[in-house]
Amino acid sequence: MSKICIVGASGKLGQYMVQHALDRGFEVVGVCRERSVSKLDTFKGRITVIPGATNDREVIKKAVAGCDGVLTVLVPWGVHQYSSGTAQAVLDHARPGARLIFSCGWHITRDGQDVYSRSSEVVVKAFGWLGRLVRAVDLDDQVEACRRVFASDTRWTVVRGSDLEEGESQGLPVWSRHVGDPILESNITRRIDFALFMVEALENGELIHEAPAIVGCQTPSALAFKMVRT
Ligand SMILES: NC(=O)c1ccc[n+]([C@@H]2O[C@H](COP(=O)([O-])OP(=O)(O)OC[C@H]3O[C@@H](n4cnc5c(N)ncnc54)[C@H](OP(=O)(O)O)[C@@H]3O)[C@@H](O)[C@H]2O)c1
Repeated sequence: MSKICIVGASGKLGQYMVQHALDRGFEVVGVCRERSVSKLDTFKGRITVIPGATNDREVIKKAVAGCDGVLTVLVPWGVHQYSSGTAQAVLDHARPGARLIFSCGWHITRDGQDVYSRSSEVVVKAFGWLGRLVRAVDLDDQVEACRRVFASDTRWTVVRGSDLEEGESQGLPVWSRHVGDPILESNITRRIDFALFMVEALENGELIHEAPAIVGCQTPSALAFKMVRT
């Protein structure tokens, strides 16, 4: 892995991913909205920034050219197929064989085997309904984006984040295939470590065609699991 693209580089997750990628010595191309370019000023001279909407196919085509890996932040913002348009552009334009890593939340299910708590289902439904009402959030489009990724024959991984918090790194999160598995019970991950998992996934072949649901490695449920296994 030498050159990678980060789609959605200016966001909180994106900026952490840029730092992890630079720490690994990767050449980084970042895509973000024109108005957000200044959020990447701390990386000036160390990364190439391509301004534009992430669902603009020409922008993505240019950004992913020659990249061995693409990290894509799938956001549910807007009601103009922003998420699915972004995913489709990456799927269509990344070079064959490139590692493609996408971010989303636990609410995405790949095989319908995830088990959600009653309260989290209520929150997701209310968030989706309210979001559509004010035309700011379209969770269904993020679902559609992931459906397209799951159906593609590219070398994809969809990383499903738990609830997030800020703070110093605790290390690489642990993961499981299904929400509801005991190891995930704590439902919290440091955002910096979510980003670490995304970047590490680029070079982890075991994660190809997986949709890992992640949780912080120092959380009670992750630690309890470690105790059981040792
Ligand atoms: N927040 C959570 O609790 C949570 C939990 C689980 C999983 N996740 C997942 O983690 C990833 C990152 O989420 P985050 O909450 O941490 O946010 P984030 O990293 O700050 O990313 C937000 C992204 O959305 C873009 N954005 C914001 N408003 C937009 C708009 N109106 N139109 C287009 N793009 C817009 C931002 O671009 P600009 O910089 O240009 O504004 C930025 O790239 C997502 O895939 C999310 O599904 C989040």
